[in-house]
Amino acid sequence: MALVMVGACYIDTILTTPYYPGEDDKLRASSLHKRRGGNCPNSAEVLAQILAEDKSSTGCKTPAWDPIELVSVLPARSSTASREIIASFGQGVSLDHCVYREGHSEPASSYIIKSQANSSRTIVNYNELEEMECQDIRLAIDALAGRAAWFHFEGRNPPVACFAMQTIRKEYPHIKLSVEIEKPGREGLPQLAGEADVVFFSKSWAQDQKYVSAEECVREQAKTASKARYLFCTWGQDGAVGNDIARSQIIHGQAFQPEKVVDTIGAGDTFIAGMLFALMRREEQWILARKLDFANRLAGLKVAQEGFAGLG
Ligand code: FRU
Repeated sequence: MALVMVGACYIDTILTTPYYPGEDDKLRASSLHKRRGGNCPNSAEVLAQILAEDKSSTGCKTPAWDPIELVSVLPARSSTASREIIASFGQGVSLDHCVYREGHSEPASSYIIKSQANSSRTIVNYNELEEMECQDIRLAIDALAGRAAWFHFEGRNPPVACFAMQTIRKEYPHIKLSVEIEKPGREGLPQLAGEADVVFFSKSWAQDQKYVSAEECVREQAKTASKARYLFCTWGQDGAVGNDIARSQIIHGQAFQPEKVVDTIGAGDTFIAGMLFALMRREEQWILARKLDFANRLAGLKVAQEGFAGLG
C-alpha cells in the first residue's frame, strides 16, 4: 500500500548569517546551501528513510510498503530542474504522478535567511507555476487511490485540497486523510481540518488564532475538527502536544534539544514524517506518548544537522 503526499516542491537557497539583517543593511553570509525543499518533499525524504530502515530491521515480517507517491506541481518533465528534483529523492519516493507544467523550466523557489543569533529561518517564496487544479488532483486520485492507504495534504490551495479530501472520503472511505495547517491567515484551512482524520497545526497558525499554547490549540480545535481522531500542534523548543480524541487524551511531548542547533528548516516537516510513521506503522504498538517522543526525537536530530540525510 502507498502513502500519497500532496504539496509544493521548492528549491531552497539558504544563506546562514550571524544575525537577521535590518532593512537596507549589508551583511556577509557565512555559508550558502542550495537544496530541494518543500514541506511534503522534506517529510517524504525523511519518511522514506525510516520506512526503509524499518523494513530492513524487521526483515520479511514487515509487509511490503510501496514507494511514497509525491504529488507536486513541477516544471516540464524534461526540464533540468525537474530532473534534478527527481534525482534528489532515493528509490523510496516516486514522482510519477506529479503535475508537470510543460512550457515552464523554473521550479518554485525559496530564499531563506538562517540567523545564527536566534536560530530563526525567514523564508521568502517565489512561484510562477500554476497551482494544482481539481482536474489535476482528480487524475492523481484515479491513478493512486486504488493502492493507497493514506493521503497527506499540505494545507495550501484549500478549495482543491478540500475537493480531493471529500472525493477520497466518498469513493475510498478506507483511506486515511491527514492535513497540515501551517500558514497563518490562509483562508479555508479550518475547513480542511474538518475533513481529516489527523491534523498537524503549526505554532504560527495557532498563535495567529490567539491560542497561547499547543494544548489550547488541540483542545479547542477538537470542537470543530469533527472527523479527526488525532490533532497535533508543534511549539518549537516547547515540543508538541497531541490530542487523541477517541480516548479524550491530551499529551505533551518534550522537544529533543540538540547540543547545537544547526538547521531548523524543515523541523516541522520532520515531526510530521515521524508521526506519520508512528500512526501508519506503530498505531497499535505505541501509546500516544511514545509516538510523540519518536517524532520529537527525529525533529531534534534533524535540527542538529544540515538537511535531511541520514535520519533513518
Ligand atoms: C521548510 C520548507 C522549505 C520550503 C518552504 C516552503 O518547511 O518546506 O523547504 O522552501 O518551507 O514554504
